[in-house]
Amino acid sequence: MTAATVCRTYGTEPREGARFCDSCGAPVTEHDTRAEYKQVTVLFADVVHSMDIAAAVGAERLREIMTDLIDRAAAVVQRYGGTVDKFTGDGIMAVFGAPVALEDHAVRACLAALGIQAESGRLAAEVKERDGIDLQLRVGLNSGQVIAGEIGSRSLGYTTIGEQVGNAQRMESVAPPGGVMLSASTARLVDGAAALGEPEFVRIKGCSEPVAAHRLLGLAERHSALGRLESHLVGRRWEMAAVEALLERAVEGHGAVVGVVGSPGIGKSRLVREVSAMADARDVEVFTAFCEPHTSQVPFHAVMRLLRAATGVEGLDGHTARDRVRDRVPDADPEDLLFFHDLLGIADPDVELPKVDPDARRRRLTALVSAASLVRTEPAVLVVEDAHWIDEVSESMLAGFLTVIPQTASLVLVTYRPEYEGALMRVHGAQTIALGPLSDPETAALVSELVGPDNASPVHKSLGCSASNRPNTGERGRTAVVVIEEAHLLGHDQLEA
Ligand SMILES: Nc1ncnc2c1ncn2[C@@H]1O[C@H](COP(=O)(O)OP(=O)(O)OP(=O)(O)O)[C@@H](O)[C@H]1O
Ligand SMILES: [Mg+2]
Repeated sequence: MTAATVCRTYGTEPREGARFCDSCGAPVTEHDTRAEYKQVTVLFADVVHSMDIAAAVGAERLREIMTDLIDRAAAVVQRYGGTVDKFTGDGIMAVFGAPVALEDHAVRACLAALGIQAESGRLAAEVKERDGIDLQLRVGLNSGQVIAGEIGSRSLGYTTIGEQVGNAQRMESVAPPGGVMLSASTARLVDGAAALGEPEFVRIKGCSEPVAAHRLLGLAERHSALGRLESHLVGRRWEMAAVEALLERAVEGHGAVVGVVGSPGIGKSRLVREVSAMADARDVEVFTAFCEPHTSQVPFHAVMRLLRAATGVEGLDGHTARDRVRDRVPDADPEDLLFFHDLLGIADPDVELPKVDPDARRRRLTALVSAASLVRTEPAVLVVEDAHWIDEVSESMLAGFLTVIPQTASLVLVTYRPEYEGALMRVHGAQTIALGPLSDPETAALVSELVGPDNASPVHKSLGCSASNRPNTGERGRTAVVVIEEAHLLGHDQLEA
């Protein structure tokens, strides 16, 4: 990977010696190619014989079917904490465990795979009735180490590469239509939680010997709901009650902004996941943007992620995406709309952007987004995770846009670590929830949940730490091991013990 001097947003080469991009005013930096190794499960889902379907129903109808399918699949991926990495021609690639590390990435990916098959089955029934054709998906999963980050000389967004990605695609290619195939590594990780078929030895491209693969038949009852994937939420009662009250008010049209602050590992993301589940149960949509160390220098990154999710353009082709956006903001000034398309990454390549100075453009975009939020009547929860890594442009745009939230039906949650002192922690009228360590009895309850009450020795019982929520912990009798990954969660007495 070579470093090239380009605009992170536009990928354009600046004039010689220029320190700012002529197109967007963003600082021109050495292209950041930082990427990291992550343990993940990669999911590929692809439509079987899509060419035959195209021949039977025509390209336009196939596109409609694919859009529907991809929307549904992406929603399932999101529900289980995964990220859609890209849309392949016939389906999607999703990753569980990056950018956000998930200890139970393999179980989540299995749940998503089954969920995607269930959704695709529902859609297939409609398609069968309307078009008389069989729509079927193959899904493949593989787990292992990948390289994840902003990769490539143009900012293509966060992506994942490596041999293990290719192996997931190979599992997909050998999956039976309507089925889910796991590689041996994924099968090992979900051992005990999933019902698997006998190992099948399949030939895949690039391997001279057949490799073992397992069909996923189902997941044990206790893993059938996302809530059961994690230990129960321990404590945080008043925090949850406070957010629940704010969500109820938001649904009635009195939105709120809530900052959730606390040190690493204290439970900010966990609280947000609980709120998301609560919103889900009330049929309130949740849209999330994750900020990361390597995106803090990418102008517009956070706001682009959040708005792409909220406008529902993810996975749509440019034309359909622009139509959808026009429906959402029917009264927008046509020039502003062009800027908005550009921000969302759905600009028509044949239309030139008006020349406007970057500050004015930012202001106009903020006004447009604010106006769009004010007309939106359906309630929503918007989450900005890890704002301590937010890029400057997104921060200033969001700070402007958050001022209209009280007049909308949206609840906005912004999580950040204590070192963050930026504009999002000073939003007028925002509430702040500061998470402190769990109490001693709460931490004891958490450990006992993780290792099982019978396995928790007095020492284990006295430890209050989190993140040791590994599948199967506690199912191996008295040899259960508690890993103290979040020792700062321990109360003083527990540290003494
Ligand atoms: N109250 C809780 N009950 C049960 N598990 C918890 C609780 N709080 C945190 N955990 C677990 O502890 C781990 C770390 O929590 P989490 O990821 O939410 O931290 P965070 O504050 O978001 O950290 P970071 O700043 O690094 O993003 C997770 O596995 C989470 O499920
Ligand atoms: Mg977090």
